[in-house]
Amino acid sequence: MKPNLRSAAAFIALVVSAAIPAHAAGSPAGAADSAARRLVGRMTLDEKITLLHGSTGGRASRAMGNEVNGAGFVPGIARLGIPALHETDATLGVVGAGLDPAGPKATAFPSGLALASTFDPDLGARMGAIVGQEARAKGFNVLLGGGANLARDPRNGRNFEYLGEDPLLTGVLAGAEIAGVQGQHVLSTVKHFVLNANETNRKTLDARIDPAALRESDLLAFQVAIERGRPGSVMCAYNRVNGPYACGNDALLDGVLKRDWGYRGFVMSDWGAVHATDYAVKGLDQQSGEQIDDKVWFGDLLRQAVQDGKVPQARIDDMAQRIVRSMLAVGIVDHPPQPSAIDYKGHAGTALEIARKGIVLLKNEGGILPLATHAKRIAIVGGNAQFGVLTGGGSSQVTPSDHGTFDTWVGGQNELGDLRKEGWIRSSPMDALKAALPGAEILYDPGIYPSDAAALARRADIVIVFATQHQFEGADVPDMTLPRGQDAVVAAVAKANPNAIVVLETGNPVAMPWADSVKGIVEAWYPGQEGGQAIAHMLTGAVNPSGHLPMTFPVDDAQTVRPDLPNLGADTHADVAVDYSEGAEVGYRWYAAKARKPLFPFGFGLSYTRFAMSDLKVSGGRDLAISVTVRNVGDRAGAAVPQAYLSSAAGRPLLRLIGFRRVELEPGQSSRVTLTADPRLLGHFDAAANVWKIDGGRYAVTVGQSSASAEITGQATVTARTLPAGWHPDESAR
Ligand code: BGC
Repeated sequence: MKPNLRSAAAFIALVVSAAIPAHAAGSPAGAADSAARRLVGRMTLDEKITLLHGSTGGRASRAMGNEVNGAGFVPGIARLGIPALHETDATLGVVGAGLDPAGPKATAFPSGLALASTFDPDLGARMGAIVGQEARAKGFNVLLGGGANLARDPRNGRNFEYLGEDPLLTGVLAGAEIAGVQGQHVLSTVKHFVLNANETNRKTLDARIDPAALRESDLLAFQVAIERGRPGSVMCAYNRVNGPYACGNDALLDGVLKRDWGYRGFVMSDWGAVHATDYAVKGLDQQSGEQIDDKVWFGDLLRQAVQDGKVPQARIDDMAQRIVRSMLAVGIVDHPPQPSAIDYKGHAGTALEIARKGIVLLKNEGGILPLATHAKRIAIVGGNAQFGVLTGGGSSQVTPSDHGTFDTWVGGQNELGDLRKEGWIRSSPMDALKAALPGAEILYDPGIYPSDAAALARRADIVIVFATQHQFEGADVPDMTLPRGQDAVVAAVAKANPNAIVVLETGNPVAMPWADSVKGIVEAWYPGQEGGQAIAHMLTGAVNPSGHLPMTFPVDDAQTVRPDLPNLGADTHADVAVDYSEGAEVGYRWYAAKARKPLFPFGFGLSYTRFAMSDLKVSGGRDLAISVTVRNVGDRAGAAVPQAYLSSAAGRPLLRLIGFRRVELEPGQSSRVTLTADPRLLGHFDAAANVWKIDGGRYAVTVGQSSASAEITGQATVTARTLPAGWHPDESAR
């Protein structure tokens, strides 16, 4: 029998609004807590257990009566009006078809790194709202995103899904996306908790790190994302963290997340990340995709464990209560999914906007870009540019709403090798360039043989090489080189024609041995379903580039923390470990500490106009605040991204992003930007005392347009402070 959602909604609404007196319930979140407790009080043990484990979304769930085609399914409790959970991936668009007769097509957004390059939380919130809306219209009430892992390794196969290497940028953007999703009454799960920083042997890898450093880096990114986005769920990761598996990690789940941060939602496992029933007493609330695990740990085995007294009944109540509480808090009971038409055209506009704002111009020697209108003959080389743009692969891969796709099967010896394929979206940069430059002759070479490409390049005024690097969940790339001999193609083209430009479609930084011999370098990431247009708009100057790197681009592997990819070639099931010895000094912080000069620094990105900073005021006391004027001193409109970095704290040299703002400015226009640093970024985490400590003293701040451009500096005295581990900018918001 199907639950009657309408009457369920009415029932729950009654419980929340009437049965619980407002003063007793406190905040709306408090009301959801109390209402959930009452509902759980009416459940049998079997009903509670029903909520604690879920199926994959495929055939197995259809046998359980599920008609919504997605990634996961947890049956509801019709008697109490509790709906089933219909789960879909995720962060870059809706992956599952749901109930949509048109199948799995949805707005395919650019990669997370492209969104992060915009430095624009409002855009993240708008993207989240669209993804949430599409998920709901397809019959889903849970979105398995957004990803908030920090990029520690430039070869990690899932960095493209995430938001870069900085905890503030990642936390702010992930929080905005999650809030956007949940605003549509779709429950969002922040993932993968935590330190899932390499895909190689992700199901056995022990990610080792100093616990205090973890608080200041990856955990801080999640902490900020959770306090801003208030996700109904947290998805624990596949890997181990300092010994125990992430989904059975008492210290992280019960200790950090639930005790220190006071998190009231539920922890769901990643698909195939549970290894024992006793994870229930270590903080895991729900087993997902149970067919992928060795056993249904949270079904009959959990019931038995309760009956044997191994898992307290109170803990089962807590698990069920957290799940129901999040359903109520996000509104998936009052506002069930509504299969409905989707405004794909409108949504494509936002996908285009993110792609345009996320493209990063890295080099523009002699102003080769925007493309001169007098260029008569332009050669395009490689990257399937005559057909489309590349996407990242794995569970985040979206079928675009209004473009075809084509795939190349790749395979390989890794966990998901059988599923591995390069997916392309038919959004051709070459066609878009032809449309934008009707007076120019556009030639094409596939870039397979360097000599062919060079021969074509010789015949053109300008040559644009499209270079691609595919990334896929379940595997890292072994090194930072562009695959399939593309470096040789770029080198041959650059030798043949002095006016060479390289457009990269990559899921990570790549080495660029040819960087000095080309005039232009553009990082377009995986630009999503409108990517072809976005690239052409930026190359021709219809759009002024404004993206800034959310990850450092090192010169090569040798310059990184771990020159060799950890565990390269290990058997997929072998127990392996990675020592994240850089601790909290992730990315640009580590390069600064080691005085290494990367190819392009974090935060870097050029524009077709110029900006100047002036009048920096830094004030101290309890909080560190800065204000600065940013002016467009060039001759066309553009967006600046002033970034404030702490460069020393109470006498200790360091480098930390403490604030940023994206500002659109007309020529000659200026804007005063004011930022207040999150106090956790000023201090350090004292693991023994379990507090954040901010030392009193002089704090130096630099403001510029990248982590390496200290255009203007200032100082202030900050007073010493100690903050609880779960310090929250808005205590009442929990
Ligand atoms: C991925 C998750 C995803 C889940 C469900 C897992 O393999 O790691 O990110 O949400 O599958 O598709």
